[in-house]
Amino acid sequence: MPPVSTDSRAAVAAELAEARAAMFALLEPLSDDELARQWSALQSPLVWDLAHIGHFEDAWIGQRVGGLQPLLEEGEELYDAFRHARHGRGELPLLDPDAARDYVSRVRDRTLAVLGGESLGGGDGDPLLENGFVFGLVLQHERQHVETMLQTISISGLRHPGGRPRPVPGAGDRLVEAGPFLLGSDDAWAYDNERPVHERELPAFRIDATPVTNGAWLEFLADGGYGRRELWSDEGWAWREADGAEAPLGWGDGTVRRFGRDEPLDPDEPLQHVSCHEAEAFARWAGARLPTEEEWEKAAKAGLLRGVGEVWEWTASPFAGYPGFRAFPYPEYSEVFFGDDYRVLRGGSWATHPSVARLSFRNWDFPVRRQIFAGLRLARDGAPIEARLGPRDRRGALEADVREGLASTPKRIPPKWHYDEEGSRLFGEITRLPEYYLTRREREILEAHAGDIAAASGADTLVELGAGTSEKTRLLLDALRAAGQLRRIVVLDVDEVTLAASVARLSAEYPEAEVQGVVGDLERHLGELPREGRRLVCFLGSSIGNFDVEHRPRFLRALRDSMEPGESFLLGVDLVKDPGRLVAAYDDAAGVTARFSLNLLSVLNDELGADFDLARWEHVPRWDADRELMDIRLRSREAQRVRIPALGLEVPFAAGEELHTEISAKFRREGIEAELREAGFEPREWWTDEAGDFGLSLSSVV
Ligand code: SAH
Ligand code: TRP
Repeated sequence: MPPVSTDSRAAVAAELAEARAAMFALLEPLSDDELARQWSALQSPLVWDLAHIGHFEDAWIGQRVGGLQPLLEEGEELYDAFRHARHGRGELPLLDPDAARDYVSRVRDRTLAVLGGESLGGGDGDPLLENGFVFGLVLQHERQHVETMLQTISISGLRHPGGRPRPVPGAGDRLVEAGPFLLGSDDAWAYDNERPVHERELPAFRIDATPVTNGAWLEFLADGGYGRRELWSDEGWAWREADGAEAPLGWGDGTVRRFGRDEPLDPDEPLQHVSCHEAEAFARWAGARLPTEEEWEKAAKAGLLRGVGEVWEWTASPFAGYPGFRAFPYPEYSEVFFGDDYRVLRGGSWATHPSVARLSFRNWDFPVRRQIFAGLRLARDGAPIEARLGPRDRRGALEADVREGLASTPKRIPPKWHYDEEGSRLFGEITRLPEYYLTRREREILEAHAGDIAAASGADTLVELGAGTSEKTRLLLDALRAAGQLRRIVVLDVDEVTLAASVARLSAEYPEAEVQGVVGDLERHLGELPREGRRLVCFLGSSIGNFDVEHRPRFLRALRDSMEPGESFLLGVDLVKDPGRLVAAYDDAAGVTARFSLNLLSVLNDELGADFDLARWEHVPRWDADRELMDIRLRSREAQRVRIPALGLEVPFAAGEELHTEISAKFRREGIEAELREAGFEPREWWTDEAGDFGLSLSSVV
């Protein structure tokens, strides 16, 4: 069998031609003088890269495989990468641009002849030819040099179309459970340093879905990140002092200089042009760390990372061979670089050809290098999260709720399904809206009375139900800490993503406490909450108002039954008030609540493959004066049928038909205290904010 099949011969030739065209297109806007000049001590003159590409190709294919004489006698002396350091290459008697172009074209002609099999040396059994490896080597080499040349052009200050990373939508981090995975690649064209593919075991960790952006880096700058010694490693600080770096390479005041132009800084663009030292300082500032390359690859192979291929990502890993590493086909590609001097970068940049930016690909460089199109992605240790509601239970429960809810009249969906990652993010936005007074009022009460609550409860354990990001809860935690009481924090929520990020932050901010997250449903898993310590159970945000009126007593009773005498229950409730203000709180001018409401349909689309068209639905909040509650629905703007493949359903909606999604009951002191007593609690304290908008009730279990 020929080492390269006829089919793949044509494919390889086409790829070689494509890479060559890309290389020439890149150099096209530059004059011969610009090509010949040495722009930076860190980078070769472009004309060196050009002829080096030819030399490498001739050495491996024309000479090694084809058995031919070198096409350029002084090729080895001038263009071998190990012969002369980059900074001296401008002094060498290099081929001029025309001669270099001619040289690479003549080399290519010989390559194509060898590829065509005319003088295929080595024969069967030569590992260099297996699956066309040597052609892959030459092809990837050329593509990697295209990126190197773009780096050179970018620091030369020359005007050039260049390129840039694209903003990556999304946010938040992902939990990667402990367990084994396969590291590396045995693909035909994988480099030696990616081999052999082998099993690795990693503890749980968290990793951001998207790379760090310019906007986040601006916050780091505003917070004095470059001047804060404690954020930097010893080596990093020494570099910073010597280099004088105060911002990423090329940054001005709100601008970034690239390819000969000053452009406004786009806060959403992935950050690039930082050294590994800067990346590490940023990560420490963010309460995170760089991922190891193994973590990066595991998460990438699990499909959890977005924006791979926009910027290279610095990792925490020094460059080393995998167990069983064998240098192939030459030690100068990888092996001579193994050691602590280099850091691995993963992913690939906007300038990297996708065939190089494979998930197992390992790039490496000195940690001081900034001309690379490199940024970072944050990782954290896996936080302890217990899943009462694992992904499968969640899916099952969602399916059951949707099937039942859409079969009933009127149609309804339970409110907890609003809260996927995006729903939680939108709720966070709601809490900052001018119309949504609830969060601010409740915080006001907590600011005034957190100390009283800590003292009255005598608690050493805070348990929060429907915790979300636990922002206001920090007031209580600080009060417990100030009283020297804080031992344990337990947060429960249905949204695993938000919960896990919150657990990680709480663990960092309250190191004296044991922090535990429970992914669960507070209508089902109260009985399974940890029971250690003397607990203060908190249910804030008036979320109790979101229960169906019939479910509220059941919930309070179940909670009471899960608690011990001497423990306390803190409940936040929104109070009945002027309907105008109530409606505004659920129908804000910016339309955030409408988006939150509609997100329920996106959850059904994402998780059940439904085809709700959000544009055909509108958010309808009404004040129900009789029942004293906000009644929130989604109205079908027209007659339509919605398919939900996961349930095998096609559901008709009439024009104007309303889907019941949520209520938010409003309370009066007497009413809620009566309900608490009915459930077996003993209401002890009642506070409101100054305006009397919101109430906080502290009960004990007797
Ligand atoms: N306590 C926070 C968040 C309130 S938003 C505050 O006061 O600002 C409501 C929170 O409850 C969301 O984080 C949502 O994910 C969670 N939640 C809603 N229904 C739930 C249920 N049935 N079980 C557990 N958590 C629930
Ligand atoms: N617990 C919050 C409340 O009842 C939840 C919420 C905020 C909400 N905004 C919403 C529920 C809009 C439905 C629609 O206020």
